[in-house]
This record gives sequence, structure tokens and C-alpha cells, in this order.
Amino acid sequence: MERFVCASANPDKVAEIASVLAGLVELVPRPAHVPEVVEDADTLVGNARLKAAALCVATGCAAISDDTGLEVDALGGEPGVSTAMFAGIGCSYADNRAKMLDVLRDVVPPHRTARFKTVAMVVWPDGRELAVEGVCEGGIATTELGERGFGYDSIFIPAEGDGRTFSQMSESEKNEISHRGRAFRALLAALADRAGEA
Ligand code: IMP
Repeated sequence: MERFVCASANPDKVAEIASVLAGLVELVPRPAHVPEVVEDADTLVGNARLKAAALCVATGCAAISDDTGLEVDALGGEPGVSTAMFAGIGCSYADNRAKMLDVLRDVVPPHRTARFKTVAMVVWPDGRELAVEGVCEGGIATTELGERGFGYDSIFIPAEGDGRTFSQMSESEKNEISHRGRAFRALLAALADRAGEA
């Protein structure tokens, strides 16, 4: 089983990633002494690369990372790569959700379409890398609904669901259709292909 150090220390994300990769790759937590990198690239893949490459250099091990953006059509695709800081530097998940509901207050549901995109990536110590993307189409709710999850989960309604927000779904229901679930399953498939070619 291939072994990867996981760049994310966010427990919400790590739980989702670990549940998709369980039994298929060995995921090692990021060592506490390795600092987080500044995610200042202007693309999701650029930020994923910054995170994995820094960890690879610090540990000498292959590293796995991800970066996610929310594209809202009524906002011309924003916040995209700036999704974590939509309401400003140091803002909370709740601040971001409140700002999103506020800026879309006059946008009626058919025009509240949005998608989450996740880039999942592996960087190996010899410089090889593998990056794939997972997308989940959906829309922004008009009010917060549900208790579970994190980030924008309580205001994101996936198109392939039954009208519930991600926050109203179990972890396995979310993983099955989510951007992150799709990205990490695609990463597993790409890793298997490479192993087959070797
Ligand atoms: P990151 O690049 O994975 O850290 O994601 C950037 C931001 O997107 C996070 O700070 C969250 O606000 C949001 N986000 C990422 N993944 C999800 C998700 O699965 N549900 C809801 N919000 C998410």
C-alpha cells in the first residue's frame, strides 16, 4: 500500500479524505512541526502544489494535498481560489456563509447556480506529480439548512441530490457526490493506472 503524508490538518477535510482512501493508501498525518504554507498561488492546482511540495521537502515522503474553490455563476465564478477568505483575511466559515447569502440576496434560485471544484494532488520526493480534479454542480440555498459538515455545506445544494444541502446529508452521502470525494477517487484511479504502467 502506497504511503502519503497528508498536507491538510483540517480535521473536517481529513475525515472526508481518509474515508475515501481507507484501505487503499496509507495516510500519515502532517507532522506538527511542519508549518502551513501561504496559499498564494492564483489557481487551485498551484495552491495544491505549494502544499504538497512543501511537505515533501520537509518530510522526504510523498505528500498528498487538495485545494477547493466555490464558483458562483452570479458572481462571475468568484470566489474561486479565494473561497476560504471570501469575507476577508481571518474570517470564519460563518462569516463566509453570511456574506454569500448577503451578496446573493436579490438573486432568484434559478440563477444561484454554483459548483465546488477540488484539485487533489500527489508530489513525490523525486519531483514527479499527479493532479486531478473533482467537480460538484449545485446551487446556493437562500438560507442555512442542516447541522453537519463545514465551510459552505449548509448553503450548498448539490444538483445530484434530492434538494438537501450538504449539511443535511451523512458523510457517506456527501462523499458519494462531492467534489472532494470525486477528486480523491479520481486520484486513486490515476495512481492505479500509473502502478499498472510501471
Ligand atoms: P480548501 O482549499 O480545501 O481549504 O477549501 C477552501 C475553502 O472552501 C474552505 O475554507 C471552505 O470554506 C470551503 N470548502 C472546501 N471544501 C468544502 C466542502 O466540502 N464543503 C463546504 N465548504 C468547503
